[in-house]
Amino acid sequence: MSTTWLAERSLGFDSSGIRKVFDLAARMENPINLSIGQPDFEVPKEVREAYVDAAQSGKNGYALTQGMPVLLEKLQAQIDQEYGAGNREAFVCSGTSGGLVLALLTLVNPGEEVIIFDPYFVMYTSLVKLVGGQPVLIDTYPDFRLDVDKVAAAITSRTKMIIVNSPANPTGVCASTEELRGLAELAAKNNVVLVSDEIYREFVFDEPFCSPAVFNPQTLVIDGFSKSHAMTGWRLGFVHGPPSVIEAMVKVQQFTFVCAPQPAQWAGAAAMDYDVQSHVTQYRERRDMMLDGLAGHYEIARPGGAFYLFPRAPWGTGTEFVERAIDENLLMIPGGIFSERDTHFRISYAASPETLERGIEVLQRIATR
Ligand SMILES: Cc1ncc(COP(=O)(O)O)c(C=O)c1O
Repeated sequence: MSTTWLAERSLGFDSSGIRKVFDLAARMENPINLSIGQPDFEVPKEVREAYVDAAQSGKNGYALTQGMPVLLEKLQAQIDQEYGAGNREAFVCSGTSGGLVLALLTLVNPGEEVIIFDPYFVMYTSLVKLVGGQPVLIDTYPDFRLDVDKVAAAITSRTKMIIVNSPANPTGVCASTEELRGLAELAAKNNVVLVSDEIYREFVFDEPFCSPAVFNPQTLVIDGFSKSHAMTGWRLGFVHGPPSVIEAMVKVQQFTFVCAPQPAQWAGAAAMDYDVQSHVTQYRERRDMMLDGLAGHYEIARPGGAFYLFPRAPWGTGTEFVERAIDENLLMIPGGIFSERDTHFRISYAASPETLERGIEVLQRIATR
């Protein structure tokens, strides 16, 4: 096929950095793999059973566009309890990624600006460009805190949206209540849509989870079951926000994704009854184990959630350092994948304690050149 067929919007994606790492990784034997962005526990048994029961009992057809009542009513009840009845409407989408795609398609016009905190989840900048928007990056190094004054200074007449992600991928850093309040109020004051990606909300270790939607009811929250219940392959997410925006997003879903997979929705309803706290406790212990093991060797902003650490490379660029780690059979992701800077690297500690021990041993050894 001729590359001249490709639409301009498809040329904006650059996956060369990550491809290079995975090409190197393909040659590794039994790597110490600290690169994975998904939980290392299995989908809970009750949830798998609910999926199988749904599939076996013929719940395999198209789902309702907004979501099957079995799941949607449960989600809506939980949201009403958290935010008050009648204020926010929910719908079910194909993964958090599906919710993000719909949010951008529904809300961002070509030429409009979307504020994103750097480092960021890789999809944000790509999706903004896909819809013809302009990503505006706010540098958050070295502590990865939200500086509301910096955001205020970046707002122009073309700013349409701010995307916030706490706990964050790739840093694991949680924004403070005050930072989220400041951001939420700033968005409200400037009539800018605040999108809050809350996919890691279950994985908070030091403080209770806080959503900016508490301070700004117009906030569009995007969430899902991929990380909380290790259901990454089942493509189940949900969105809640102001009813007029939700209704428009559901219409766009009707003409794009159609619906989220039906058996996964029955399983999602079961997942809502399953407490993931024991996994959270395990991940807290692993975070502490990593921080203890790397203390004195690496500069790391303390992560309060998710399952990532984002240390500064002790020498060379993030890419050079990760290449050195790969020589030692340790696989991680260079920070340049998530950022304009190539100075850091991402460690995922969603791995067994034995794997983490092996990773720490290598990281201590290669911290000096
Ligand atoms: C911050 C963030 N948002 C969204 C997603 C996508 O999740 P999903 O599997 O629900 O599409 C990920 C996955 O890594 C993520 O880290």
